[in-house]
Amino acid sequence: MAATVTAFMNQKGGVGKTTTTVNVGAIVANEHGRRVLLVDLDPQGNLSDHLGIDPNAIEDSVYNVLIDRTDPRVVIRRVHGLEVLPANLDLSGAAMELAPAGDRILRLREALSGLADQYDHIMIDCPPGLGLLTVSGLVAAGNVVVAMQAEYLAMRGISQLMHTVGMVAEAANPGLAIAGVVFCGFDGRTTLAREVKAEVEQFFPGMVYRTAVRKNVRLAEAPSRGLPINIYDPGCAGAADYRDVAAEFLERSGDVDRVEVEMERDILAETPVPPDAGDGRGTWQRRPQWGE
Ligand SMILES: Nc1ncnc2c1ncn2[C@@H]1O[C@H](COP(=O)(O)OP(=O)(O)OP(=O)(O)O)[C@@H](O)[C@H]1O
Ligand SMILES: [Mg+2]
Repeated sequence: MAATVTAFMNQKGGVGKTTTTVNVGAIVANEHGRRVLLVDLDPQGNLSDHLGIDPNAIEDSVYNVLIDRTDPRVVIRRVHGLEVLPANLDLSGAAMELAPAGDRILRLREALSGLADQYDHIMIDCPPGLGLLTVSGLVAAGNVVVAMQAEYLAMRGISQLMHTVGMVAEAANPGLAIAGVVFCGFDGRTTLAREVKAEVEQFFPGMVYRTAVRKNVRLAEAPSRGLPINIYDPGCAGAADYRDVAAEFLERSGDVDRVEVEMERDILAETPVPPDAGDGRGTWQRRPQWGE
């Protein structure tokens, strides 16, 4: 089965895109046993850094995949039970270098399409802004998950974001859809946070994740140790919240059904053929009747 490809995006900076991509990806890989590829599409290299890959120490990165069409398989690193296509500052020049290329917005999609059967989930951490890199991420993805904070003017950013997603869908990727909104650094004690969340829920019915990720200092510390939260501090509130978000991510990706179907198939395969009771049904299937 081909991987689901999800772009974690928001043109606004510092809202939790990278934290969400890293921790959902790590939990889906480590605790649900899925094959996960994380794509760092940000010249800041925060996702790579967060997972212990020093962006300054890598030779090849997603930049080479986009510019030189380097095979992503030689660039991908395996860390903490998942795989990462890393990025560094080289990527900041990619938009300029790709300007003359007619296929510039398709390059990432082409590179990832060759990997689709090797993973269950490919998650793209988009940079802030709505430039070529974010658009490349949206062209490569099937779904968008918006990471956002419950703050004043949040809705204004959302309509701009919707406009971009709509334009990309129309021009290059008709299947693209916003599949979820995750609130990050949420403080449910403030009226403003609750009001903004309610407003977004009204605007995107059914799309806001049930769990809002609370502010948790352990989430802010984990990148400095190069670890996802489930390894850095598996018992903290941040790990609990991202566990819920990861489970909901699988549910919303339709992955849970797939697992249940696989489990059902395994159980059926392991169940011995019932002895024939003579009436065409196995005796083991016969339920006790009233009075027996
Ligand atoms: N729930 C949280 N609690 C506490 N700190 C958080 C939480 N989520 C994210 N942070 C911290 O907030 C900062 C911004 O988060 P993050 O890097 O995930 O945002 P981003 O949207 O990817 O930013 P950018 O737009 O720069 O790529 C980071 O220092 C991160 O560790
Ligand atoms: Mg980021």
